[in-house]
Amino acid sequence: MASRRARQNHKPSVRYPIRKPRVFWLKEDGIANGTPSRAVQASLNGLDGLSQTAEQSIGTASSVALHNALRRYGIEGEEAFLVLAARYLDTRKAARRDFSFFPVERGFATLNIVAHDKQVLSILDGILAADPQGRELPTWYQFFFGRRFREGSGKFFTPRMVATAMAKLLPVQPGAILMDPTCGGGTFLCEASRRWRDTQYQLVGNDVDRMLVGLTELVLALSAPTNHSFALSCCNLYDADAEFRNLRGKVNGILANPPFSLPLEHVAKPGELFALGYRNSDALFLDVCLDMLAPGGNLVCLLPHSLVVNAEFDQLRRMVERHWELCGVVTLPEGVFYLTGNTTTRADILHLRKKLGRHQQTHKVFFANAPTVGFPLNSRTTYLGENSLELIAGDPRVLECAGTVR
Ligand SMILES: C[S@@+](CC[C@H](N)C(=O)[O-])C[C@H]1O[C@@H](n2cnc3c(N)ncnc32)[C@H](O)[C@@H]1O
Repeated sequence: MASRRARQNHKPSVRYPIRKPRVFWLKEDGIANGTPSRAVQASLNGLDGLSQTAEQSIGTASSVALHNALRRYGIEGEEAFLVLAARYLDTRKAARRDFSFFPVERGFATLNIVAHDKQVLSILDGILAADPQGRELPTWYQFFFGRRFREGSGKFFTPRMVATAMAKLLPVQPGAILMDPTCGGGTFLCEASRRWRDTQYQLVGNDVDRMLVGLTELVLALSAPTNHSFALSCCNLYDADAEFRNLRGKVNGILANPPFSLPLEHVAKPGELFALGYRNSDALFLDVCLDMLAPGGNLVCLLPHSLVVNAEFDQLRRMVERHWELCGVVTLPEGVFYLTGNTTTRADILHLRKKLGRHQQTHKVFFANAPTVGFPLNSRTTYLGENSLELIAGDPRVLECAGTVR
């Protein structure tokens, strides 16, 4: 009995009820020797209450300098972010486009308050020079909003390194429509657009929070190449019928991190999971994606680890098998959203493909475990280790399963 229990304990922790496909297991248990870079070390001694991952990517010196310089004018929070955003608009050609969501006038009005201050302008221009495309604007947004933005609201951004790895799993298809239905600050759309720079793409973003749609609009206006068009909307994904009518069944790829664990008693277009009794925003996100994707379309998204392993989601997984091909699962370490979202909820990256017909799945499936993601997982650790997620997303076996190489 004891030895049976011991054998059970050695089984991999992720199981998925798919019987036929050949499965291999990629495990990245080793953590490479190494010490954090100076920038990271500096960030770890940074401002109380501000995200370490944020400081890591935007730089402690410039974030502290801008924060302090703007505070002298009583400019904090959203207004402080608007100053930086307006400086981007002022100096980049993006200012010439019409914005539907981003509050351009408010931004310029706030920038005008400090426009005479050479020190503030020099800090702003240093930030622009280091990141001309504004890739880090979502990080700056979180930086200025701090805990008020993330705590309990579920509104936090996926760390860019995770979004970059996820974008690598999506096959490139010229002329495709790529969507993030809960786009937040647009990190996924921005990373996908960077990856497919030379291919024509249509980017579609939506979020229930208007300011976040505005942030996505700004980020894409600054970073998307001219062969990428983008369309944005602001609506409740689960209650949107008319808004998404034109896209239904036409989207080729979805990259997303939907809200987890929000109870939903009503949805505009109940799918099979709703009919089975699932009432959480994460599970029902799969219903929405099935409805939006074209047959053969890919979904690469973050979902709670419990959906992949817990018995209470058996029926959900059976439904997934009926309508989707499983391409792969990456389990992420606990704490991957701790510093940006203040949550220890475990999440996995799921790659699913909407079935073309009723055929049996024949291709390989990857299961991978990423113990490190290239940034600290809690506020005590200064040790980063290697970025095993990056290794996984570049592994030819994974890319073969993902369909990005054939
Ligand atoms: C975990 S955040 C992820 C944001 C972004 N996709 C990213 O990864 O950085 C979830 C996002 O879903 C949005 N959201 C929550 N409920 C929503 C709903 N019912 N419809 C559309 N968006 C929603 C939130 O405003 C938030 O931006």
